[in-house]
Amino acid sequence: MNQLSVGVAITGSGSATPKVTLDNEGLSKIVETSDEWITSRTGIKTRCLASPTESVPDMGAAAAREAIAMARITPAELDLIILATSTADDLFGSASLLQAQLGASKAVAFDLTAACSGFIFGLVTGAQFIGTGTYRNILLVSADILSRWVDWSDRSTCVLFGDGAGAVVMQAHGEDRLLGFELKSDGSQNECLQLAYQSEPKELISGVAVARGTYQPITMNGKEVYRFAVQRVPEVLSKALFRANIPTDEVDWLLLHQANQRILDAVAQRLQIPDHKVLGNLANYGNTSAASIPIALDEAVRSGRIKSGDVIAASGFGAGLTWGAAVFQWGR
Ligand code: UT7
Repeated sequence: MNQLSVGVAITGSGSATPKVTLDNEGLSKIVETSDEWITSRTGIKTRCLASPTESVPDMGAAAAREAIAMARITPAELDLIILATSTADDLFGSASLLQAQLGASKAVAFDLTAACSGFIFGLVTGAQFIGTGTYRNILLVSADILSRWVDWSDRSTCVLFGDGAGAVVMQAHGEDRLLGFELKSDGSQNECLQLAYQSEPKELISGVAVARGTYQPITMNGKEVYRFAVQRVPEVLSKALFRANIPTDEVDWLLLHQANQRILDAVAQRLQIPDHKVLGNLANYGNTSAASIPIALDEAVRSGRIKSGDVIAASGFGAGLTWGAAVFQWGR
């Protein structure tokens, strides 16, 4: 952004997904559903599921190592690690474990929770530290293991989600490659999509009670979330593009949170962005929450589709409700 003194470039990407997959056929053995229903309503064919022993820092570190290598730096050069996750192994935060696993001894590390908007919120947060000249090398890791929090008896939600991690390295740069952004939240619609704590009162002594409880599986009002996404995502992308002073026809790639193929199609149509510019990998991974944007980004970079200098309009949206968009150019 031009009001900041130091520019930011995204110089490396990486991704990692669990080896074990569960396709729609397999799901139909768990709940009453079919490949036909899931494919036609969502575009999802299969998803990767973390094993009971895999962790968010494990997956995140695998993605991070790839991003760090692509950026041609070492973990020791990192100043900051942001871990965008809503499924931390430890409620006190998982970013420090990731820092230790990478041997990024100089880096400060913290978690950022913004559900499926986590990557966009993390990107903008990292850019502020670079823009003010505070840090030069930042690792943003987005990783979620939603399979641990899905109600595997609820066919309206369990067919949607998968596990994965994606990462990018952000570096101080003479030319600012983050061209525009917009972030939004609306807590009044929080109940549309939740992974909520449910408490039971426990009296410690007479008159002093605390809550003891557990997190409940994901609940979602699919229709409301669908409506919200199709309406709000084009708005926020238009705002970010306006701020970037980029006309829509100069966008090389539309990179949306991979929630549902019908949402991707509707947003692209609303913005009049042709299908061949829409990046998508829903069929292979389902909705991987914060990880979905950087996984799709990394695949497109490594396959040579995204080239240095390409303009990417990215948007994340989901629980909170939160949503946001960032317009950036790939590479140095
Ligand atoms: O990161 C953001 C995460 N959330 C989202 O992106 C969710 C956005 N919403 C959606 O993607 C869609 O609303 C869904 C894919 C979740 C659902 O699609 P829909 O077209 O809104 O279906 P619906 O909820 O209206 O359900 C239609 C029918 C219902 O049966 P009846 O009442 O018409 O007899 C459901 O019970 O489909 C039934 N159904 C299923 N049938 C087979 C719901 N889930 C399934 C299923 N398999 N898995």
